[in-house]
Amino acid sequence: MKEEIKKEWAADADSVFQDRITRHHDELRWLYMELYGNSSMFAELCDRMREYYLERDKKLKDCDEERESDREWYKRNDMLGMMFYIDNFAGNIKGVESRLDYIEQCNVNYVHLMPFLDTTEGRSDGGYAVSDFRKVQEKLGTMEDLESLTAACHRKGINVCMDFVMNHTSEDHEWAKKARQGDGEYMSRYFFFDSYHEPAMYERTVPQVFPTTAPGNFTWLEDAGHFVMTTFYPYQWDLNYRNPRVFNEMMYHFLYLANRGIDIIRIDAVPYIWKELNTSCRNLPQVHNIVRMMRIISEIVCPGVLLLGEVVMEPEKVAPYFGTVKKPECHMLYNVTTMATTWHTVATRDVKLLKRQLDIVNSLPKEYVFLNYLRCHDDIGWGLDYGILMSDGIGERSHKQYLNDYFQGCVGNSNSRGELYNADPVTGDARFCGTTASMCGVEKAGFEQDEAAMEQAVRLVLMLHAYMFMQSGIPVLYSGDEVGQVNDYTYKENPNKVADSRYLHRGPMNWDLAANIQNTDTVEGRIFQGLNRLERIRKTEKVFVSNADTWTIETWEQSVLCIGRYFDGEKIIGLFNFSEHDKTAWINETDGDYVELISGNTMRPIGVNIPAYGFYYMKKKK
Ligand code: GLC
Repeated sequence: MKEEIKKEWAADADSVFQDRITRHHDELRWLYMELYGNSSMFAELCDRMREYYLERDKKLKDCDEERESDREWYKRNDMLGMMFYIDNFAGNIKGVESRLDYIEQCNVNYVHLMPFLDTTEGRSDGGYAVSDFRKVQEKLGTMEDLESLTAACHRKGINVCMDFVMNHTSEDHEWAKKARQGDGEYMSRYFFFDSYHEPAMYERTVPQVFPTTAPGNFTWLEDAGHFVMTTFYPYQWDLNYRNPRVFNEMMYHFLYLANRGIDIIRIDAVPYIWKELNTSCRNLPQVHNIVRMMRIISEIVCPGVLLLGEVVMEPEKVAPYFGTVKKPECHMLYNVTTMATTWHTVATRDVKLLKRQLDIVNSLPKEYVFLNYLRCHDDIGWGLDYGILMSDGIGERSHKQYLNDYFQGCVGNSNSRGELYNADPVTGDARFCGTTASMCGVEKAGFEQDEAAMEQAVRLVLMLHAYMFMQSGIPVLYSGDEVGQVNDYTYKENPNKVADSRYLHRGPMNWDLAANIQNTDTVEGRIFQGLNRLERIRKTEKVFVSNADTWTIETWEQSVLCIGRYFDGEKIIGLFNFSEHDKTAWINETDGDYVELISGNTMRPIGVNIPAYGFYYMKKKK
């Protein structure tokens, strides 16, 4: 670090900031100069970081220091997330604050508040088109409400996660408005083209995100006489991170939001943030440079904040976003391929591919923390390992077709309900939408008033959660899944939503169901209490820390998955039957007696019979 800079920071009253910037300055500068070669913009960034540090609330700073001294804090076995849209869950931010008791009842200590920043109704992409990064949507409340909520959450030990949608802004963002009026300074914050020449070149190599609902990666702006790059919807304008002004300003927004008491920043659509002609514009090296800078900036200003990367890609593309041990990037990433492979397993009753997928994840360094989930607010894309499936004679296109037919409930022994998403007539590709409960048969059984089918559906819901909790990482529930909420078809009556079938599984929380959670004569009570038992086991058994050893065990039974976990002298084996028939797992763990944690029965993990859609959590006796 240069002497004069050292002196400047030394004059600072706050030694904590000084220490941190001293530690990280050289690397940050190096990365910044590599991308931008602009030392005055870098100096501005450092000055502003200091300002954000100084304005950061004392309580948040105390928490930062605590977390700095316990860097593994988020790997604990009690970590359990829940995601929801604020209006769907409780009307507005104040409503969420008044429902924190329910969140605690769910054993949840991390809530992901889905996008709540200002956006234009009808052109919002579920809030992922932000028009003002410093304003809360009026219908949801104010920044003060947010600060009050984060403080209330912290008092209860609940972490708060929010989206940082950094790839694009809404076309109604003030930058976009100025760009549209021809202001060159603002046009350079986006990708503007006065002819289709360059866009056409991009289109040769850049795939499409929304092939049917928003085809193409560019939008013609009649009034401006320009094309603008729009990877997602036409009203979501891609930001140009070649421009250091964009990077700096977005980092200031990031720090501003962190200072409102946010614990986890979900970096939306992160692989897309750097564009380069003749590439796919995904996962380019510069993206990693930027994420690493974000990590350093947060380590300096707000080290208690975690970065969660949204990388919906195949495993080889996902893991690099953790960075390296010396140069970490994201703290957490979604376990997306495992999620999709789970549903493949539900449809095929064959755990082979899932076992392989888990083996890949389990072979990664234990420092990596994955977020596990059965579904989220987005569609399920069938990003499976088709290389492996192909060796069993299963072709990609026909298999995707099968999965989509299966989950729409059109084939064979399927009890699922749901809808396709972005069915592309050219590639034959389509993704899938539905709630966990609907995909497991709760909707169909309820409609048909078929008690036996309902019993089976509830068992499947519980088995899938039990299996998800056993994976290495942190589980995240989608709000409503804990009471078996089914698809919401009312989005079809809303002109702002009808074109986007993801709203099928984004229905409002049904509080009538939540009123029955104590009543195990109801479906919702059975699911809620079943999950509750699993959650309690998870937080009392230390083998569920995210950095425990986790591995799979061959069961010699096509439909039964076996996962082992070991930590600090303790061992648990989980068995999960993905079939509607009773099965036997031909495992042979000869190291003594085990106790099954749900029933309390003593068991030996040797040739274990498991009922249809059942599971066991077996803990080795001391
Ligand atoms: C992310 C969000 C998705 C949104 C997209 C564009 O993938 O999860 O809902 O459509 O980003 O911002």
